Amino acid sequence: MMCPYAKTRYDSGSQKCVLSAMFQSFTPPNRVLMGPGPTMVPQRVLDAMSRPTIGHLDPSFVELMDEIKRLLQYVFQTENYMTMPVSAPGSAGMETCFVNLVEPGDEVIVCINGVFGHRMRENVERCGGLAIPLYETWGAPVDPDKVEQAFAQNPNARILAFVHAETSTGVLSDAKSLAEIAHRHDALVIVDAVTSLAGAPLQVDEWGLDAVYSGSQKCLSCVPGLSPVTLGESALAKITRRQSKVQSWFLDVNLVMGYWHSSGGGRSYHHTAPVNTLYALHESLVMVFEEGLENAWARHRENARTLTRGLEKRGLSLLVNEADRLPPLTAVELPSTICDAQARGHLLSRHALEIGAGLGDLAGKIWRIGLMGQMSTPENVALCLDALSDVLGLDPCHQAA
Ligand SMILES: Cc1ncc(COP(=O)(O)O)c(C=O)c1O
Repeated sequence: MMCPYAKTRYDSGSQKCVLSAMFQSFTPPNRVLMGPGPTMVPQRVLDAMSRPTIGHLDPSFVELMDEIKRLLQYVFQTENYMTMPVSAPGSAGMETCFVNLVEPGDEVIVCINGVFGHRMRENVERCGGLAIPLYETWGAPVDPDKVEQAFAQNPNARILAFVHAETSTGVLSDAKSLAEIAHRHDALVIVDAVTSLAGAPLQVDEWGLDAVYSGSQKCLSCVPGLSPVTLGESALAKITRRQSKVQSWFLDVNLVMGYWHSSGGGRSYHHTAPVNTLYALHESLVMVFEEGLENAWARHRENARTLTRGLEKRGLSLLVNEADRLPPLTAVELPSTICDAQARGHLLSRHALEIGAGLGDLAGKIWRIGLMGQMSTPENVALCLDALSDVLGLDPCHQAA
């Protein structure tokens, strides 16, 4: 009989699968991560993470939390006091915004121009809200005119949800214009900035973005597992007016803030914070602060431009129009002669390079190349272009073994 797990064998005496070998520490293979995330984490951030664990209510740790909040306010460009990292990945930041802001019966216009818009719709429906989907072609940004029309047709909609940086297609939407339209119709905006935070201009206060979430593993160059979230006054007012309890205890911001925000009464236990992961986040935010946010945006833009020029020189086409491209993530169309999985396998085995496959409707049609956070360098652009040149020289797909 076959046993389902590695290092187990079937013992006919006990008729059970038993351990058959020693387990050892895990050493990951060397990889150059230039996909849609996670991105590579600088040694400086890994070093910070390996420092001794202290208590999550230790006065020194509370000081660190305050610095993290301040640094997050800086990268989000906001004064929102309700700014904190949720102790879970980007999907939990998404859920935090939806479960707190959407009440049963609420009408929410959800813009869907890629994978993550679909997830927003799921969130609305699971909160008992009425999702009004607004579909857009994958590879195109959210169209402000269509949003305007959607509000005209659905005057009771009080929330607009959209993805600022669609990682499945490499498109950046115009968050400022979309927020203006929503506010004109007396609606709040929920914005996914998982791949734009620190990699492309994002101005939470100036653009009036009410609820925004992100992830630690993209342009912040931190380890995965944290989701920075910021909520403005109007969003908090809606949460305060709720008729029903937030259905998630863990993600109820009123409860979480007892830990992350002291209004004079000190911090109270909510959950055991991932102490060492927060050391890592702090260090990665310090690195963004040292560089300067605008310099980081400009670096992402420059390196993406060099990459796209190099791709075009090699005869490759890009999925997204130049004006709508997301600097941290470039979607390139696959030539018909190239076998997707074989070529990416080749990149991994010969160049240790990981890039992303297409998702959903774009599976097998595009590759997604990430230049995120500290990985956005001219050296990595050159490395990626050289490796791709090698792959483009592979035998045509139909001749592949
Ligand atoms: C735009 C976008 N939203 C949400 C998520 C979900 O984040 P996570 O995988 O950290 O849960 C991702 C992850 O890649 C993303 O790219």
